Amino acid sequence: MTQWSAVEAWFDAQLLPADDVLSEAQAASAAAGLPPISIYPAQGAFLQVLARSIGARRILEVGTLGGYSTIWLARALPAGGRLISCEISPDHASVARANLARAGLSAVAEVVVGPAADTLARLVSDREAGREEPFDLVFIDADKPSNAVYLRAAVRLARPGTVIVVDNVVRQGEILADPPDPNSVGVHDLVTAVAAEPRLSATVLQTVSSKKWDGFLVAIVD
Ligand SMILES: C[S@@+](CC[C@H](N)C(=O)[O-])C[C@H]1O[C@@H](n2cnc3c(N)ncnc32)[C@H](O)[C@@H]1O
Repeated sequence: MTQWSAVEAWFDAQLLPADDVLSEAQAASAAAGLPPISIYPAQGAFLQVLARSIGARRILEVGTLGGYSTIWLARALPAGGRLISCEISPDHASVARANLARAGLSAVAEVVVGPAADTLARLVSDREAGREEPFDLVFIDADKPSNAVYLRAAVRLARPGTVIVVDNVVRQGEILADPPDPNSVGVHDLVTAVAAEPRLSATVLQTVSSKKWDGFLVAIVD
């Protein structure tokens, strides 16, 4: 075990109580053959603290997998809050829906199946027609080459003060490889889009964990 994994395990043991619902969600996802690419507990707790600190009532997630991050985020919502999560794979969505049902969150969190770009385009069109309220928090964690598409849609679905978080923007430093792989190109496109968007203020937090060296981009809409 690396020292940073040991440090992560120590903090998790001190700060994150055992949680059968989250453990069962991970076990059910693994049993269904989903890849082990969810966020890790400390990141889930970070997203939950962030959502609660801004009083998020409407959360948008891009990339559901088995619903692990969805549960962390949906639990941050107050009564009457709503979460929409976009997932291209019907199999992943069905595992996520079962996990959300076990977590008692089916009435709060909706998994929409289809390419996220299409789902987001529908949401933008509904928002611009006044049929959707803005989202308070957007978590982007799907196919990395489309990051910039999702970011631009997130800005159109935002209000001043909306927070946008994008996972996996460091990729163990691979983003500086020459030539970059398609996922790293997705990060470059994302950062270019963020820098070009005058409504956004943003930074990147690099992280180490049992999932190695990576990072979150965190932005706020002005
Ligand atoms: C990294 S996983 C999401 C992990 C999840 N956020 C968590 O931490 O528990 C990425 C998910 O995005 C989905 N995905 C990939 N391409 C997509 C697309 N074009 N539209 C919607 N979802 C997509 C994958 O099927 C996968 O389930």
